[in-house]
Amino acid sequence: MNLQDLIYISRRKLSEAGIENSRFVMVALSRGILSLNEADLILNGEKEIESELSAKYIEAVERVVGGEPIDYVLGFRDFFGIRLEVTRNVLIPRNETEELVEIIIDEEKNSRVFADIGTGSGAIACALARNIPSSLVFATDISKDALMLAEKNARANGIFNIRFIKGDNISGLSDFLDSVEVIVSNPPYIRTADIDSLDMNVRKYEPMVALDGGRDGLDFYREFLEYLPTGKKVYLEMSQYETAALGKLVSDLNGYSHEFRKDLSGNYRFMILRPEI
Ligand SMILES: C[S@@+](CC[C@H](N)C(=O)[O-])C[C@H]1O[C@@H](n2cnc3c(N)ncnc32)[C@H](O)[C@@H]1O
Repeated sequence: MNLQDLIYISRRKLSEAGIENSRFVMVALSRGILSLNEADLILNGEKEIESELSAKYIEAVERVVGGEPIDYVLGFRDFFGIRLEVTRNVLIPRNETEELVEIIIDEEKNSRVFADIGTGSGAIACALARNIPSSLVFATDISKDALMLAEKNARANGIFNIRFIKGDNISGLSDFLDSVEVIVSNPPYIRTADIDSLDMNVRKYEPMVALDGGRDGLDFYREFLEYLPTGKKVYLEMSQYETAALGKLVSDLNGYSHEFRKDLSGNYRFMILRPEI
């Protein structure tokens, strides 16, 4: 089959399924599976595509049609310039989390010891470790499968200044907590009752342990703040709907001031805690 026919069949499948961004999907799949760029799709329609590759391409289109997120279909996601393998054991890293990393790199380039709690694919830990090369990053997760993938991602990208630890919330840092200067986390923060109203492709494919934040979405934060010692700098991703509830939780915290920051969409997305001086 030539490229033009492959594209025609695929576009028809996507549009019949009502996939709105079919052009984006085709370009991404062509890059990821055929190693062809957008210009090739327009200029090289006569190019013959091996039957194995075209079958792989059509299978990928069908998975997208079935609602599977394209990053899982491709098996990778680029995050802060780092290619990360993603499987259904880990959340697909989001653009907002790249914004969080940008804030931290900007404000903490002189800090040395970081912790990323709930590292998932290793996105935050890898981005910090790569961009602050003199740092040591402790990356934890409660999920063994996530942790194994995060470690694989770090190794595949030649990033070696990360220590991986399986553990629960802040107590998972155990003996290392004393040495940590900066704690980062993008924890699960969706209210249990809201899970059903998430997009089908999130609800059905992404791991519940990465999404479900308990009855009020704050289970992780409550435990984290209860055991947070004084003197750390803390960067947490959060739900845009929880500024009041989180503000109330941190108002009981001794020794810290807090600030909420918006993401580029204008939603409150990050909570920063700094030791009071
Ligand atoms: C929202 S995902 C974030 C993943 C990754 N840091 C990112 O930003 O793409 C939350 C992660 O926290 C992990 N997690 C959930 N509860 C946890 C807990 N109590 N302690 C440590 N990790 C936890 C999940 O397994 C998941 O990998």
